[in-house]
Amino acid sequence: MSSPSIGQYDEKTVDPFIRVRDLSKSFRAKTTITHALDSTSFDLQQGEFLSVVGPSGCGKSTLLMLVSGLTSPTTGTVEIGGRQVTSPISDVGIAFQEDLLLEWHSTLDNILMQGAFRGVSKRSLRDRATELLDMVGLAEFADKYPHELSGGMRQRASICRALVHKPPLLLMDEPFGALDAMTRDQMALDIQDLLAGTNTTVLFITHSIAEAVMLSDRVLVFGPPPGNIVDELVVDLPRPRHLSVRETPEFAAFSGRIRSRLEAMGVIRDRTAWASGTASAERN
Ligand SMILES: Nc1ncnc2c1ncn2[C@@H]1O[C@H](COP(=O)(O)OP(=O)(O)OP(=O)(O)O)[C@@H](O)[C@H]1O
Ligand SMILES: [Mg+2]
Repeated sequence: MSSPSIGQYDEKTVDPFIRVRDLSKSFRAKTTITHALDSTSFDLQQGEFLSVVGPSGCGKSTLLMLVSGLTSPTTGTVEIGGRQVTSPISDVGIAFQEDLLLEWHSTLDNILMQGAFRGVSKRSLRDRATELLDMVGLAEFADKYPHELSGGMRQRASICRALVHKPPLLLMDEPFGALDAMTRDQMALDIQDLLAGTNTTVLFITHSIAEAVMLSDRVLVFGPPPGNIVDELVVDLPRPRHLSVRETPEFAAFSGRIRSRLEAMGVIRDRTAWASGTASAERN
């Protein structure tokens, strides 16, 4: 039996929108078992922006695959809108690190492909697609092909594609990971604009502590593999958030807490601190 589309649910009556309970995933090869995710539980409220930060290999992408139903859990459950996910969910927008644009379609047609996947006419999505492209500064590139776009433009187009059908849920796995720092800053602003007023629920995977704090209502910090939640922060910085928020003491306090948590687990090693400790010991 396939999982019903999320859109079939009366989301307003379901609290929390997403419920993850005791979720574990192990991958078995011939002679080895990799424990990717270890008994993870959390809730996600409708309209909430939740980030997951953690070291490489701690199961972040695996978590996203489990929530989307593209992979099945070894133990535990994911419920969306009160229904257990047992197969790939349909009413969702997904953006990965690689933009996966189809090179033989124009930018606009790549976005309108969502209609073909979902039995919705391209015409009904065209206005929204044009509006989204305009919001991210790509209005003039609608008829260009992906190879004519920069990396940042391609990634913006892929996020427009993920949002054009107004999904209640957006899953993003390192969507800005391949971009330069300045383009990432722009994307952080763009994604806030795109989501403003939509009540979209977002699960966002990132390696960047600053990006997680900048964008999120809440951040889950994962420990070394097999991943599990070692800390949780409610980021109550006012919205909309401009880039200058990163220079405030409040922002520094949030990112400092995540960094020190990762340092305490040995995920980030600060050799400078060790060296300066040695230097001062030698001086004394
Ligand atoms: N399909 C698979 N088959 C076997 N092992 C897998 C598979 N997918 C993931 N793994 C293993 O599960 C662990 C977690 O992988 P995952 O991709 O979820 O980590 P991640 O936190 O997303 O890492 P990164 O930050 O590098 O993207 C890794 O050890 C990985 O090798
Ligand atoms: Mg990953």
